[in-house]
Amino acid sequence: MTTRVRGARLVVEGGVVLSGSIGISGAKNHALAAMCAALLTDEDLILENVPDISDVESLGALLVSLGAEVDRLPNGSLRLNCSRVNMFEAPTDLISENRASFQVMGPLLGRHGYAASAPPGGDVIGQRPIDVHLSGFEAMGAVVTREGERYVTSAPQGLRGARVFMDYPSVSGTQNVMMAATLARGHTTIVNAATEPEVQELANLLNGMGARISGIGSQMLEVEGVEAVHGTNARVMPDRIETGTWAIAAVMTGGDVELNDVPTGCLDALLTKLRAAGADIEEHGNSLRVRRAGPIRAISFQALPYPGLATDLHAPMAALLTQANGVSIIHERVFDNRMLYVSELRKMGAEIVSTGSSAIVSGPTPLHGARVRALDVRAGAAVLLAALVATGTTIIDDVYHLDRGYERLTEKLRGLGVEVERN
Ligand code: EPU
Repeated sequence: MTTRVRGARLVVEGGVVLSGSIGISGAKNHALAAMCAALLTDEDLILENVPDISDVESLGALLVSLGAEVDRLPNGSLRLNCSRVNMFEAPTDLISENRASFQVMGPLLGRHGYAASAPPGGDVIGQRPIDVHLSGFEAMGAVVTREGERYVTSAPQGLRGARVFMDYPSVSGTQNVMMAATLARGHTTIVNAATEPEVQELANLLNGMGARISGIGSQMLEVEGVEAVHGTNARVMPDRIETGTWAIAAVMTGGDVELNDVPTGCLDALLTKLRAAGADIEEHGNSLRVRRAGPIRAISFQALPYPGLATDLHAPMAALLTQANGVSIIHERVFDNRMLYVSELRKMGAEIVSTGSSAIVSGPTPLHGARVRALDVRAGAAVLLAALVATGTTIIDDVYHLDRGYERLTEKLRGLGVEVERN
């Protein structure tokens, strides 16, 4: 396991052309939601392909604090058993570690009729309210009150199925309400549900545990409540954001990289935009070979809910576009503050300005090594990508943000030819 000290930094030598092959790790945002689903049953939930990242560690610690057993099996799978869960209040220090932790609320409330928590932590990329989670619980009969900083939800008679309209198709909101509805009495319809692949995979996992969810992948999820669900074995889907990050790295450095175990059927926006920018991408089953066909071209894109281009790829794509010929325009349509990376890229010589939720990138600009910070997990990915094509050495501080979402980062970088130290 990587040492994840807060003060750690990466020292990256630029001017590298990536070559070789790497395997894509399990998806952070599927793994985290799946771990919360373990709270719905007394039986073992065995999850394969759970990435070794700090967000998994901190959510594991939160589940343990509630009374769960969470351990890595010799084959690397994660075993979760929640038969001894007897605490229904999430400790504030652990809930503030990441965003997904608030997804303990739905299963706790659905199963035990009570759950309390402070608002979740996570990247500072916008206001990130949780009103759709709470109004979903209320629609199913829960009483939601505020005690100090904590939200207290209770439904002593159990939740009942309802028609739940989501003001915004929130990813974790949909997952939370879907888990709560799994054990509710009667039928729940979630209208304006998020359709992200991680939401679909959570629904498939729940069905594998005995839930009755249909409409998976649509904006209208139907959940027929069941009395109980059971344990199962499931594999976490590969991470589409990690796939995108490495594919961008290959294009940006003019490299030749094979990405193995990529997710299939959900990369349309990424592949379309990368090809428009000049990438040569061959798809072979669940592998991609990514090269560059010529100079990088300027493109414009919007970061959108799925199946649009993922907001989590906004900052990495912006780093790529600093090397494109011409002016690129980016519109962020999901979060209201995802521009933190702009100032860091500018320190490296990028010509990029942000106004409100848009960024304008002029290229190509030669980048130079600098001392920069990983301000959130994807802003960190953007400066790392920039460091690969910069002249000289880049020092990236606050690398713990990257540890939240990228497994075995230095090992994978070195495997593709990057000179990188972590200290
Ligand atoms: N929103 C509301 N009301 C709510 C909830 C959300 O208006 O009650 C709005 C937010 O303000 C935001 C938008 O909905 O503007 C999207 O938020 P959403 O709730 O969908 O995001 P999330 O569930 O907090 C997950 C991922 C993020 C990813 C987003 C969007 C997890 C743990 N996190 O966050 O992942 O960016 O969906 O796809 O699943 C990352 O991996 O770097 C990351 C930030």
